[in-house]
Amino acid sequence: MIAPDRYAVVGYPVAHSWSPFIHGMFAKQTGQSLTYSRLEIPPVELETQVAEFFANGGRGLNITVPHKQAACLLTRFRTPRAEIAGAVNTIAAQDEGLLGDNTDGAGLVTDLSKNLGLTLSDARVLLLGAGGAARGVLGPLLSAGLEYMEIANRDGSRAMQLAAEFATLGNVHGCGFDAITTTGHFDLVLNATSASLQETIPPVPPSVIGPTTLCYDMAYGKGDTAFTRWAKNAGAGRAETGWGMLVEQAAESFEMWRGVKPDTKPVLDAVKSQK
Ligand code: ATR
Repeated sequence: MIAPDRYAVVGYPVAHSWSPFIHGMFAKQTGQSLTYSRLEIPPVELETQVAEFFANGGRGLNITVPHKQAACLLTRFRTPRAEIAGAVNTIAAQDEGLLGDNTDGAGLVTDLSKNLGLTLSDARVLLLGAGGAARGVLGPLLSAGLEYMEIANRDGSRAMQLAAEFATLGNVHGCGFDAITTTGHFDLVLNATSASLQETIPPVPPSVIGPTTLCYDMAYGKGDTAFTRWAKNAGAGRAETGWGMLVEQAAESFEMWRGVKPDTKPVLDAVKSQK
């Protein structure tokens, strides 16, 4: 009997990861023979343990916090979207060497457009945060043809620098929270700060939100996050957490590894019913 192909998610910590559950459902649904485990690896051991995983026949890894930037350096080739993001969340073993990809932005775009029905072309978007999570999704978001994007960050200079880096991809501006445009609502307010993890919210004026605004927190947890709770109170049309992005980015990784795209709907329903 041929041993199933081996995959894993690498993080530090990683015990909370839903990826084994999600990929397990994808494999069952598509009839693929594989195993998918969690690997808790501290930063100092990342390079050696990743090399060992692939030397022992591993086929692919997902990379999560805090390793996404460091993982770039472990791959021989990278997709253009991984290069733009400066981060890798998926590694595939190939004959010529390790290939790094970043499926986070595509996963977010699919969740927003397909699952949540948001028309991204011509949308006015407010992106909160200018760290790794924001950078990882900027390319695919701007490539969806937005009318305008404002990046707002606690440290405004970081937002301005990020906007300048991505200026060739669309109409994007950076500022501090105190300089957010307050005339008219945004169609999408996207929280890519790590504030939700500290149960706090970025200081955003409620006037950016209207009855048609979709507020989206890239973080997820049990029920609402601090940000989605705030958004609902502020009158947002809809407020969603990042479960859909999580499942959609996983589907992109799965397709890259296995050449077959899983149906995400039953998996997203299952994840949401268990959370
Ligand atoms: P990640 O990879 O999660 O993006 P990061 O690169 O450390 O992590 O970036 C964290 C982001 O969350 C930054 O935009 C940070 O703002 P600063 O650049 O000003 O530090 C933002 N952030 C963290 N805690 C925050 C808080 N309590 N309120 C608002 N923004 C916060």
